[in-house]
Amino acid sequence: MSSLRLVITIAVSVAALAAGVSFSDPMGSGIPGRTARAVSPFEIINIDHTPCRYDSKRQGTCMLGVSCTAAGGRFNATNPCDPRTGSTFGVCCLLQQTCDGVIMTNNTYFVNPDFPSDTTESQTCEITVMPPRGTCYLRLDFTNFTIHDPVQGACVADQFHVPEAEHDAPMLCGYNNETHMYIYVRDLVGKQNVTLRFNLGEWNGPRQWMINVAQIECGQDWTPGERGCLQVHMAANDTVRSYNYDERNPGRSTMLAGLDYTVCVRQAQSRCYVRWVSEFFSLSASNGTTAVGQACTQNYVLINQGFDVKQKTSIDRYCGDVFGARKNSTSASPVISTARPYHVRVRTSTNATALGRGFILKYSQLQCLNTRVISYRD
Ligand SMILES: *[C@@H]1O[C@H](CO)[C@@H](O)[C@H](O)[C@H]1NC(C)=O
Ligand SMILES: *[C@@H]1O[C@H](CO)[C@@H](O)[C@H](O)[C@H]1NC(C)=O
Ligand SMILES: *[C@@H]1O[C@H](CO)[C@@H](O)[C@H](O)[C@H]1NC(C)=O
Ligand SMILES: *[C@@H]1O[C@H](CO)[C@@H](O)[C@H](O)[C@H]1NC(C)=O
Ligand SMILES: *[C@@H]1O[C@H](CO)[C@@H](O)[C@H](O)[C@H]1NC(C)=O
Ligand SMILES: *[C@@H]1O[C@H](CO)[C@@H](O)[C@H](O)[C@H]1NC(C)=O
Ligand SMILES: *[C@@H]1O[C@H](CO)[C@@H](O)[C@H](O)[C@H]1NC(C)=O
Ligand SMILES: *[C@@H]1O[C@H](CO)[C@@H](O)[C@H](O)[C@H]1NC(C)=O
Ligand SMILES: *[C@@H]1O[C@H](CO)[C@@H](O)[C@H](O)[C@H]1NC(C)=O
Repeated sequence: MSSLRLVITIAVSVAALAAGVSFSDPMGSGIPGRTARAVSPFEIINIDHTPCRYDSKRQGTCMLGVSCTAAGGRFNATNPCDPRTGSTFGVCCLLQQTCDGVIMTNNTYFVNPDFPSDTTESQTCEITVMPPRGTCYLRLDFTNFTIHDPVQGACVADQFHVPEAEHDAPMLCGYNNETHMYIYVRDLVGKQNVTLRFNLGEWNGPRQWMINVAQIECGQDWTPGERGCLQVHMAANDTVRSYNYDERNPGRSTMLAGLDYTVCVRQAQSRCYVRWVSEFFSLSASNGTTAVGQACTQNYVLINQGFDVKQKTSIDRYCGDVFGARKNSTSASPVISTARPYHVRVRTSTNATALGRGFILKYSQLQCLNTRVISYRD
């Protein structure tokens, strides 16, 4: 056994032991396990701070067991850091912070103070994020996010917001599981910290949140190209849902008022157009039909040059109770667009009378075909 291996083995074991006794983790905790195999010094440098999967729901960060413990994290020592490379050396460290915490490491979770229980007390709970140099965005993934619902579209009882990014990022409330938000922080890095703030109002809960805070560095393949994307979807096919849309309870859902944001879909290789279909759609009331174009004045989604296969004129605005580019239709139909970039803009007015419940839209990017085929497909 080389001396290097010996040192590493001891470090990992000590850290595993520490983690095993100091943390209680309801979703899987640090059990001291196997020790490390021999590694090269090159590997030591590289395992640090790359993302890994902690469990089926949570992201972790590869690091030395000692570093994980020092950062207040926890790990399962029987879990190698990165199964893909076969490395059994680092640990997949779960980092979690709550009120008054400071986040410096990539993929750290911000959880409510009583997590995994609900928080019932009214309070302000905020966390400080210090993104390192070279960070362009924070990506907030709302794994669990339930606070008080909006009242007539406004977050009056409970609020989540990012004061340093007020112009880019809207205030949220209600139910936001499985949505995300990009915060542009390039101009703040080194000058100002970024605050993630919950204002919990005067009512007795229940509220719960678990938000992954990822640092997206500038200049990578996956860095959003433009500043104006609040949500970014990279996959060839994916689902886009509006904020405060509760799939299990659509009756409870409402659009937030005063939104104006862009959902960016990254064009996949050798795909030439995008096809949008709705799983649920309700933006402004329309008597059970589609509403398009000039009929959408207050609350709508905007798909540049969208069209219906049977109706060649293009339409930008979509609202109503049914999604589609056919006028006055009671049945939903796909909306196709070849216009790039593949963006969807979401706008709601501050007039809360007819916001609608929100939407789940699914897109597929389709293979390049000639124009004639695109027009007559479906
Ligand atoms: C630790 O990881 C191993 C391997 O994935 C798994 O079998 C075990 O259940 C985990 N332990 C806990 C407490 O999560
Ligand atoms: C958080 O969300 C997950 C599903 O993503 C769910 O299984 C879990 O019960 C929720 N609550 C806690 C405390 O983890
Ligand atoms: C959403 O969050 C709630 C708690 O706030 C949790 O009970 C539920 O399992 C989550 N659902 C999903 C699909 O993540
Ligand atoms: C950011 O927060 C940390 C920790 O609270 C503090 O030490 C530091 O001075 C803050 N930086 C700026 C630029 O405000
Ligand atoms: C942080 O983790 C995300 C994945 O969750 C990754 O895309 C990003 O590149 C990481 N950032 C840094 C600075 O390593
Ligand atoms: C909705 O449609 C019904 C039947 O076509 C009609 O009687 C009613 O006036 C319509 N309501 C609105 C608000 O357009
Ligand atoms: C849609 O239908 C309603 C009621 O049937 C009718 O009043 C209206 O003129 C129609 N609009 C269009 C654009 O066809
Ligand atoms: C709000 O919207 C309703 C329905 O669209 C409309 O009748 C009302 O005049 C609007 N109020 C304001 C202040 O714009
Ligand atoms: C994406 O959607 C298209 C059209 O619905 C389908 O043909 C294709 O198989 C899907 N691709 C993936 C990777 O799911």
